[in-house]
Amino acid sequence: MREGTVTLTRREDYVAPSHWIRSVDLTFELEPAKTLVISRMQVEPNADRPGEPLRLDGEDITLTRVLVNGNSVSFHFDAGQLVLEKLPAEPFALEIRNTCAPGKNTQLSGLYTSGGGFFTQCEAQGFRRITYFADRPDVMAVFKVTLRADAKLYPMLLSNGNLVESGELPKGRHYAVWSDPHPKPSYLFALVAADLVCREQKIRTRSGQDHTLQVYVRAGDLDKTEHAMNSLIASIAWDEARFGLKLDLERFMIVAVSDFNMGAMENKGLNIFNTKFVLASPATATDIDFGNVESVVGHEYFHNWTGNRITCRDWFQLSLKEGLTVYRDQEFSQDMAGVASARAVKRIEDVRQLRQSQYPEDAGPMAHPVRPDQYQAIDNFYTATVYDKGAEVVRMMATLVGRAGFRKGMDLYFARHDGQAVTCDDFAQAIADANHGSALAERLDTFKHWYAQAGTPRLKAEGSFDADTGRYTLTLSQHTPATPGQPLKQPFVIPVAMGLLDAAGQPITGTDRVLVLDTASQSWTFDGLTAAPVPSLLRGFSAPVILEWDASEAELFTLLGHDTDAFNRWEAGQRLAVQRLLAAVRQGGDLVLDEAFVSALRSVLNDPALDAAFKELVLTLPSEGYLAERMAEAGEPIDPQKIHAARESMRAQLARSLHADWVTAWEQNSQTGGYRPDPVSCGRRALANLALNMLVLDGVAHGEPLWQGKALQRFKDAGNMTDRLGALAALVHGRSSLAGAALERFHAMFSGEALVIDKWFALQATAPEQDGQVFAQIKVLARHPDYSLRNPNRARSLLLTMTQLNPGAFHRADGAGYAFWADKVQEVDGFNPQLASRMARALDRWRALAEPFRSHARTAIERIAAKTDLSGDTREIVTRALA
Ligand code: ARG
Ligand code: ZN
Repeated sequence: MREGTVTLTRREDYVAPSHWIRSVDLTFELEPAKTLVISRMQVEPNADRPGEPLRLDGEDITLTRVLVNGNSVSFHFDAGQLVLEKLPAEPFALEIRNTCAPGKNTQLSGLYTSGGGFFTQCEAQGFRRITYFADRPDVMAVFKVTLRADAKLYPMLLSNGNLVESGELPKGRHYAVWSDPHPKPSYLFALVAADLVCREQKIRTRSGQDHTLQVYVRAGDLDKTEHAMNSLIASIAWDEARFGLKLDLERFMIVAVSDFNMGAMENKGLNIFNTKFVLASPATATDIDFGNVESVVGHEYFHNWTGNRITCRDWFQLSLKEGLTVYRDQEFSQDMAGVASARAVKRIEDVRQLRQSQYPEDAGPMAHPVRPDQYQAIDNFYTATVYDKGAEVVRMMATLVGRAGFRKGMDLYFARHDGQAVTCDDFAQAIADANHGSALAERLDTFKHWYAQAGTPRLKAEGSFDADTGRYTLTLSQHTPATPGQPLKQPFVIPVAMGLLDAAGQPITGTDRVLVLDTASQSWTFDGLTAAPVPSLLRGFSAPVILEWDASEAELFTLLGHDTDAFNRWEAGQRLAVQRLLAAVRQGGDLVLDEAFVSALRSVLNDPALDAAFKELVLTLPSEGYLAERMAEAGEPIDPQKIHAARESMRAQLARSLHADWVTAWEQNSQTGGYRPDPVSCGRRALANLALNMLVLDGVAHGEPLWQGKALQRFKDAGNMTDRLGALAALVHGRSSLAGAALERFHAMFSGEALVIDKWFALQATAPEQDGQVFAQIKVLARHPDYSLRNPNRARSLLLTMTQLNPGAFHRADGAGYAFWADKVQEVDGFNPQLASRMARALDRWRALAEPFRSHARTAIERIAAKTDLSGDTREIVTRALA
């Protein structure tokens, strides 16, 4: 997309298409240098817009022929579109021939080559890079696809739907014909032509249907596909059981590709995945990877109904499918985790992710509503807001109508809209209409502000207890700061799950409820109390808000020690840590940890009733990025180096003062037996790794070799990647002198495993900065022969890892981190704008930084903006950042 002119697309400008394309018959003559595409379409004029020209999108492709009903016609180009005028008023046949160059497609959008095969990525606007088409989601066609290619180089020829024919062709070529009976928008088209092998499984579902499931990978990777296959089978069973949604295809395929801009893509019947989210073996993948594979396989599978059967009318409605599908994959993962405590762990992880990535977005120059109002490059709106906040919006609806009510709403949504391209309003309406009289239906219009307004609401809570009457009054009020283009905000509907505890931390019966705040401020009363209660507010994180509650230390200790809600127990611990860390940042000087905090953490660590996974979450300090946002919320300039120093100091003190407890945690959790990625063993490995990390940190600080040696031994003996990488991380992040040799050994052990080499880069990019050494090492690694910006996973392993997860290394007082970043963004922009614009988001929050960071950051962003041939994608990001 090398456009000099930037065009703004607005939601309110939506008009239905002038023509419907009812069917398309595509033939591909596949060659990397020049692929010929023949497209034969059945076109039907839209009766509502008679006489209008047909405008077809096209990008970086060469047109060779246009025929209408077999005759050549005149055409012209306008703003990159192919325009056909004076068309028949009746349905007609349109044939287009064009060529494209997959081997030169470095953007990885449209048809491209990777590892000697052909792959596609069409969402959002990649199909126009394959052939001229009405490349918009509300034009849905039945596709038939013929692939012709060299038989030796590309033995597997795949597309959407069912294989109807295949055979040999002259000159060593072969062909396959695929037919997909379900009408679909062009963004769901896919093809693969490559040398792949597949794991296949036949299943019969609960409703008695037979299906063939296939996972396609490169020859050496077959032993890493079992978990993806099991996850797919589990996803199919879950959607049928939980939502009554069945697989509607005989064949369902997943294909792994190593060059991929995103996580994965839900193309009808032919999901294409980043290898990172398919391949998993105990030796090469961590517990987190296993969890990610399960959730992404689920996510793409669930799109088959929420995205494919019912799709988006236009791209402003992206959260219609993404927010809903993230909600569904989160629920799936929770259900797979099983017991309540494991579900809570998953919820905490999801919230941590939301606050780490979506909150800063909502507070910065890219702030946009879940349903945006305008965009320059739609690819820039595949955001944490559309996905993760969108999922929270769906979750709030489910909270307001209840679990059974939400199922009824989903049923009505499918009854009304199956086969259609619809809007976020249509979804909310269906949920409300199926639940007359519910807390949602009663205030649907107000609720929909969640779709329309950007910014994270501040929810202020104030409690007062009247000892004479035994009445506790809780007042909740809300305020949402201005965001770009939206100075004033209407109140949101905020469901606040809560309960009261007594001073000893026991739940007070009859006080658990979901309060619904839908005005600026409102009060609720609780009677019959004998003493001031401790409120547990926003349980389970029932709304994506910032809870401003002036809790006393005693209240937070009570919640951490006793709340029945695991989320709020964790949250109380995080608040206690945040208060101490920010106090240290504000006051400067040394952070001295108090015994009350240390012993509260010690109690959690030693509590036999708590899961290891939960302990690991509580004992992990809030990230530097999260702390930075808390400062910004308080209106204080962010000094990333002070935050880094304070957090490192607290880590060192916890390593020292809990030494004996870490040893116990290690001893109790470091042996998990044969590898299984179930929640209990994952939790134990996570806690053991944290303990080892702390013990090595402490050992290095005090010149004691014992735990460094143990970590090295663990690294060598480990039976799985989680343990091995955990031990290596302990050495590297603890700055042990044993780290260098261990890193070398790790690299040699896994030199053929691209996804593991990504971890090798990422691990070094996340090392806690000290005296600029980590940043210096990152620059060295950027010149490593294994490093490449061309492969998105590899590019991200060093650069996005540093900018997102290592503020201490990135934000340097001399601005060198920003300069390095600006160079790389410019370089990547030259060949992959989508990847570059992702990387360009790193300094979104530059205005919130303290000096000298702020000035250096501006200079770096301005330097990117000054590049004359900057892509539209990256230009939108830097323009908004500087606006
Ligand atoms: N629909 C895909 C998913 O969430 C993501 C596609 C992203 N495409 C893009 N151009 N950003 O599963
Ligand atoms: Zn999705």
